[in-house]
Amino acid sequence: MSEIDLFSPVTIGDLKLSNRMVMAPMTRNRAAEGCVPQDINATYYAQRASAGLIITEASQVSEEGIGYPATPGIHNEEQVAGWKKITSAVHNNDGKIFIQLWFCGRISHPDLLPGNQTPVAPSAIQPEGEAITFEGMKPFVMPRALETSEMADIVQQYKKAAQMAKDAGFDGIEVHAANGYLLDQFLRDGSNVRTDEYGGSPENRMRMLNEVLDAVSEVWPENVGVRLSPENSFNSMSDSEPKAHFSYFIEQLNRRKLAYLHVLEGDMMTQSRTLDYRALRDLYDGIYIANCGYDLERGQSSIADGDSDLVAYGVPFLANPDLVHRFKNGLPLNEADQATFYGGDETGYTDYPFA
Ligand code: PHB
Repeated sequence: MSEIDLFSPVTIGDLKLSNRMVMAPMTRNRAAEGCVPQDINATYYAQRASAGLIITEASQVSEEGIGYPATPGIHNEEQVAGWKKITSAVHNNDGKIFIQLWFCGRISHPDLLPGNQTPVAPSAIQPEGEAITFEGMKPFVMPRALETSEMADIVQQYKKAAQMAKDAGFDGIEVHAANGYLLDQFLRDGSNVRTDEYGGSPENRMRMLNEVLDAVSEVWPENVGVRLSPENSFNSMSDSEPKAHFSYFIEQLNRRKLAYLHVLEGDMMTQSRTLDYRALRDLYDGIYIANCGYDLERGQSSIADGDSDLVAYGVPFLANPDLVHRFKNGLPLNEADQATFYGGDETGYTDYPFA
């Protein structure tokens, strides 16, 4: 047991955070036309600036990376201008904010993509389930397997987005390599059956993530985090040996000076949690953020027991802009309204009351 708790300061990268409660990345589908962040998004994030760290909703690194309507992008000047309002509003309230960079890969649909192109993936393996399009739900399509020669361009898209994140005033970036999106599609063998240097061994399956991390670290030598989800089956994902494979991936991340490793501990779909996350955590030398349905009590014991350094809260932060104050003072929490999670206006977004 240690004296450290959720309300203790901590340093990640070159940043001092005032507490160890992280606002988890949450897709809210409230960007304006052109995937441009808007004023209401600034209000939402600024309301939650007492989190030790905000990680934004996932934001596509290019037009080709999109997978859902009304998710923000970080690949053109208009979007940078939109994000600037958000980073200023959060900084004015003494908050810290990282942007989560994603490329959806096969979790997309031609309706959403430039020129109605086919979504890309490591391998032509069609996910089960449906994409959310402008015309409602449509079955996922068979993705096109990327050519080896196309990888470098996707890596450059991440690098360009990382630079735009810097221009927009973010404190750092989180590379989204979890939850069944492109980089996770490379990591796990249920979605990657390539026979070139990007598939086969764990070393090869990690190549794309490593190349992305090398590229974005040139822009951000300090403040890069990575998110993994070793056993999440969301988005039709599977892996033959998650324990062995993710142990390898996590050990490899030790070679880098990351700001943190952020792990979704369990399966979003079934709520099951079969891996020994303490063992995975112990393989990692740096700062570890735990996420997956934590409450105040479990968050406190996770930190006290050394199972994590910080805890990321999703829905509790969505419904309680002042979650830190409420946890600190043992105040009751607002109930989250599922019906207003995705899309819409200020209802269920910026109108949750402060205690
Ligand atoms: C979602 O939109 O449902 C979503 C997006 C990103 C995630 C997980 C879920 O990492």
